[in-house]
Formats: sequence, C-alpha cells, structure tokens
Amino acid sequence: MGFEEFKEQLKSTVDIVHVVGEYVRLKRVGGGPRYMGLCPFHTEKSASFSVHSTHQFYKCFGCGAGGDVFNFVMEIERLTFWEAAKSLAERYGVPLPKRSEQADEEAKKRGGIFEMHDQAARVFRDLLFSPAGEEARSYLKRRGLSKETAEEFGLGLSERGGQSLVRLFEKHGYSHEDMEASGLILRRTDGSGCYDRFRGRLMFPIHSESGKIIAFGGRALAEGDEPKYLNSSETAIYKKSHVLYNLNRARKAVQEAGFSILVEGYMDVIGVYAAGVHNVVATCGTALTNFQVRSLRRHAGDLVVNFDPDNAGANATERSIPILLEEGMHLKVLQLSGELDPDEFIKENGPEAYVHALRNARGFFHWLADRTRARVDKTTPDGTVAIWQALLPTIQKMPDRIMRLAVVDDLADYMKMEKSVVLGEVRRAVSERSGHVKRRQETLPDANEVLLLHALLDSAEARQEITPVLRQLTVLERFQSRAIFETILRMIDAGEAPSYTGLEGRLAEPDKERLAALVFADDTLSRDFTTEQAVACVRKLAAGEREARRDDLRRQIKDAERAGDLPSAMRLLEELGRQGKN
Ligand code: CTP
Ligand code: MN
Repeated sequence: MGFEEFKEQLKSTVDIVHVVGEYVRLKRVGGGPRYMGLCPFHTEKSASFSVHSTHQFYKCFGCGAGGDVFNFVMEIERLTFWEAAKSLAERYGVPLPKRSEQADEEAKKRGGIFEMHDQAARVFRDLLFSPAGEEARSYLKRRGLSKETAEEFGLGLSERGGQSLVRLFEKHGYSHEDMEASGLILRRTDGSGCYDRFRGRLMFPIHSESGKIIAFGGRALAEGDEPKYLNSSETAIYKKSHVLYNLNRARKAVQEAGFSILVEGYMDVIGVYAAGVHNVVATCGTALTNFQVRSLRRHAGDLVVNFDPDNAGANATERSIPILLEEGMHLKVLQLSGELDPDEFIKENGPEAYVHALRNARGFFHWLADRTRARVDKTTPDGTVAIWQALLPTIQKMPDRIMRLAVVDDLADYMKMEKSVVLGEVRRAVSERSGHVKRRQETLPDANEVLLLHALLDSAEARQEITPVLRQLTVLERFQSRAIFETILRMIDAGEAPSYTGLEGRLAEPDKERLAALVFADDTLSRDFTTEQAVACVRKLAAGEREARRDDLRRQIKDAERAGDLPSAMRLLEELGRQGKN
C-alpha cells in the first residue's frame, strides 16, 4: 500500500470529531455538521474553536490554529506527522505501510525511544511479578495496593544490578548514543560503559495523553534511600512541564464528572483511583504549568486541588491558584483533615469519606483567606492591608467577570467591609491588569458566498448546475473570496472534485482563513441547501449583474441623447435590447 493511499484510507476511517472529542469537550451546533469547544491551543473563555464533520477539519478563530485530523494530533500530542499517522492508525485499526519508507530521521529516533520505553516497562513488570519481586510486592501489599491496581497502572520493579536494560537494548541493536537519548541509560563518566538509570526502585510508567509510555517515576523501596523519587529526565518524547500523570486514564472520567482532581504524587493518584474516583491526575514533582492546566480544561472547567496538607503542599497550592485562574478554571481546594495526604486519608477513612470530603471542598478563596489570616492579625489595620494585598492579585487574575463578582461578596463579608468599597477596589485592580489578548476581528461573510461555496464543495449535482453560470459572473471579481472561487473553478477544470483540504492546500494564508470562516459561517445559510437554492442564487447574482449592466446602458443612452449623438444612442439601444433577451 502506498503512502497516499494509506493516508486517504486513514482519513476516511477516522472521524475528526471523535478524535478531537477525546481532548476537547465539543458541543454540536444545532444538529449541523459543526461542533464547538474551547480551543486547546490558547487560553479562552468563550468557544472559538470549531470542528467540521463534513469537511473533517478544525479551526480556531481566536488563535488561528487549524487543519485536518493529522495536524490536530501532531499539535496536541506534539508528534511528527508520521507519529500522528501511526498513532491514529493503531487506534482505528488501519494497517500501516512499511515504516522504513516513511520515517524521517527525527521520527526514527523518537520511535526508538518509544520502543525502548515499551520494552523497559515490560522488563520492570516482569521483574515485579517474578520471584525476585517478592519484597517489592509485599511493600505494595503493606501500602494497600492490590495486584489488579498494580497491573492497571503497569507498575514494575527495576533490577538492582543496573545492567538489565543496557543488556536488553544492546541485544536489540541500539547504540549507546540511542540508549542515552532514551533517558533510561546513563554513561559512566570514566568511559567504562553504561548502566540503568533506575535501579532497585518501584517503577511507575508515565503516559502521554493518548496512552504511550514516555517516562518513568521510580520510588525507593528501602526507607532512607535517597532520593525518595527518581524521575526520568527530559527526552525527545518527554517534556515534564507538559505532562500530567494519569491523564490518559482520567480524561474520560474528567469529562463525565465535569471536574478533575489534582494531587501531588503517584501514590495519591493510585490511591484515589483505586477508591473508584477516576478523574484524578498529578504533576510529577514539578510546579503546575499553564500547559498542564489547559490540558485539563479541555476536558472540564472545574478542578479540585488536593495537595498534601504539609507546608510544602500548601505553598504549592498557593502557587497553583493564579495559574489555574489565569486559565479560567473554577477551582476549589480540598484540605483533608488529620494532616493526611489523599492516599493516606483513603486508607484511614475509606473511599466514602474521601468522596464526601471532595463534595464539601471549599472555594479556593476561602482557603486562601484562611491561610492568609493564619499569618496576620486581621484585627489590626496592618493585618487588614496584608490580607487585602494577598487576595487582590488573585482576584486580578480571574478572567471571568461573574466569577469576580461572586468573590466580591465573599471578600466583603470576610473583610467586614462595604460591598461597594470592595467592588470599587476590585474594579480598579482589574482595569490595571494588562496584557489582555484581543480576539481577532471577524468580518461577516457574504450569504451568497457561503451558500455557493457549500454547494460547490458538498454536492456534485449542484456543482454541475452552477459552474457554467458562475464562470460568466463578473460579480465574482467583487467577492471577498474571489481567489477561493477561482481556485475551485480551476480544480474543476482539472477534473478534480474540490474537497475542503484539497482546496485549502492551494490557498494563500489570508484565503485559508477566509475559507474556514465561510465554511463555519451561520449554519442556517449552509446546512440543508438544495441544488435549486444554489441555482437560484447564481441566477439571482447573474440577473443582478444584467440589471446593473442595463442601468449602465440606460445611463449611457441618456448621455448620448443629451449630447445629440444619435448614432451612439441607437447602437446602445440595440445593445440594451440584446441584454434584455439574455
Ligand atoms: N517527588 C519527586 N521527587 C522527590 C519527592 C517527591 O519527584 N524526591 C514527587 C513525586 O512525583 C511524588 C510527589 O512529588 O509522587 C509527592 O511527593 P510525596 O508526597 O513525598 O510522595 P507520595 O506520593 O506521598 O509518595 P509516598 O506515599 O510513597 O511517600
Ligand atoms: Mn504525599
């Protein structure tokens, strides 16, 4: 099978609405071919991200991102074209053409790293469930982790000697350079060879959102072994600041529950998940980033932060709040009683108690206010100022006006101040906020252009009926989307059925934007049109054009008569007669 053939087969098998829907909550617009959601590629509060099911492409009118299903997977998973195609083919059961013909150098290198991670995960897992894994298994048991859960999370054990992966990769023909690039193998500084990065640790595979293993976290098994957690370094397939642990398993549950739970550690995720609460993810020992928040917001706009109750956890919570607010998240903070982290809490109090606590999690603002109050004396004027100074910047970060107003009530109550005073302060603070991204200017597409474009793209019958008339139209020259129509006509001339992507590929940048705008224009214009309507539309345009031409002739005749130029007037009159018959 040739590559083009493969690409076509893949495109006809995979529905872009389904693929995008796994990453973005999409709403269908009025039963039509168009779906909308919040753009995963930039921060926005109102949806300007659209997916078109007929033409199988997506477009964001806020940031300009757009393309077909391959572009989407490439962008969102940060993959090369080949990797995206491969991942889609695997997910949708389309056979792959021979890889060697396709992969470029970079993709080959990353492919090797993915492969090494799969192999490593297998080796770790096998060791955990072998006789040599006895001790590690009893550690898991002590921590209340069942065999099923260990299997579900793909847990494993790395061998103490530090040679098992090196040997395996050598057997598979990887060079030392390849091995080092995987992040799984380290080179001895004295040049005497290589050894495994992870040795004698409980291994947690870290997956990309689509479920590929891209890194590991390794926990020390013996008390006092340092560091407690050792994580993969960044590689060509792993960027720490972009990844959330467990998002691959959690995303469906997040969409269903309408919120996600953010915890600190691997064991917290596993504990919460095993308790039946599946919408849980963790940052893996790094500070929360905007990118990570966006990957959650794509699935749900609400979030509960449930970090460890110690000082480090509280600090991390405080740091995460402005980032979450900046991305437009609605957030609550859950601080569990008894100084317990989520994993410990569930072990001590059971899943029901955790679900109960989750339901009663308080708005972030209360948590923040209490925390500030614990630090300062609210009764002194200085204390009041301190609280004010601590809370105001947070409110400033909230992009949503309604959310801000809700907080003003809380704040007034909390500070024992007049609501109007608080409101005034908040307004002032917000207007000082800078760096606001403006939405792009949108010009409304012309209704005729929208209808004709859809007719030409969607229906062979309409295409046949209207192209002859269309070719003669001089109004075409005045269309905003003139280049688009001319390109379509050229494609038809060349005997090609004009598809959306085929057309898009031939257009220059501003026309690409225009095309997307036309295709996503008001559904009532573009949906369920009949061939008759399309024909009527070109006829109307043609008639309008003739009318304009006749008006022009009449004017010229009058001018000629006034100038006493009878021969010209006669000639023009004849011409007018001919026009009327057309
Ligand atoms: N972490 C890390 N490096 C460390 C310590 C912690 O990367 N030296 C990260 C890990 O992702 C860990 C998370 O921070 O899961 C939270 O740390 P901690 O609360 O100490 O670990 P727990 O997940 O509670 O693990 P355990 O219950 O096994 O102690
Ligand atoms: Mn912890």
